[in-house]
Amino acid sequence: MLVGKPFLTVEQIRSRVKELADRISMDYKGNEIIAVGILKGAFMFFADIVKLIQVPINVDFLVASSYIKTRTTGEVIIHADIRENIKDKHVLLFEDIVDTGVTLKYIKDTLLVRNPASLKICAFLDKKTHRQVELEPDYVGFAIPDKYVVGYGLDYDNKYRNLPYIAVFKEDSSL
Ligand code: PRP
Repeated sequence: MLVGKPFLTVEQIRSRVKELADRISMDYKGNEIIAVGILKGAFMFFADIVKLIQVPINVDFLVASSYIKTRTTGEVIIHADIRENIKDKHVLLFEDIVDTGVTLKYIKDTLLVRNPASLKICAFLDKKTHRQVELEPDYVGFAIPDKYVVGYGLDYDNKYRNLPYIAVFKEDSSL
């Protein structure tokens, strides 16, 4: 298993997260957001961006998974739901990556039936090459090519999440 040099550096990430936070602060001016971090992957992005958003935030979390190592199972499991009542509230979901889109589409559909005033998606990374469902994040940090990336919350088999940058991951077939 190999992890290469940074694909997105700490500095690139820091500056883009600030830009996203400024846009969100402008768009939601005068409103309160229920900010939902989708765990585990979004934990680092979420912690960084909420510190920079300038409107009142009610923080919540949802724990979901669908991947085993580098492959999606196609089945989304919600391990822990949000605690807040989102009826008539402005909900903004924070996700580390949208790939096939299956996870976020499932979460979005699950939350929409609770009648929020609005529900938008902020994805740190957007990989469109394998999109299987119609899903367009409202805010995107970086659009990335078809590479398996780890770090800044993203994992391979639950490892590498703690890297402070994004790196390309290669499976070593000799292992
Ligand atoms: C990853 C990631 C997204 C999802 C994106 O989650 O955090 O939630 O996959 O992929 P998709 O668009 O193809 O559905 P994972 O299932 O690996 O769980 P994790 O957040 O605990 O890493």
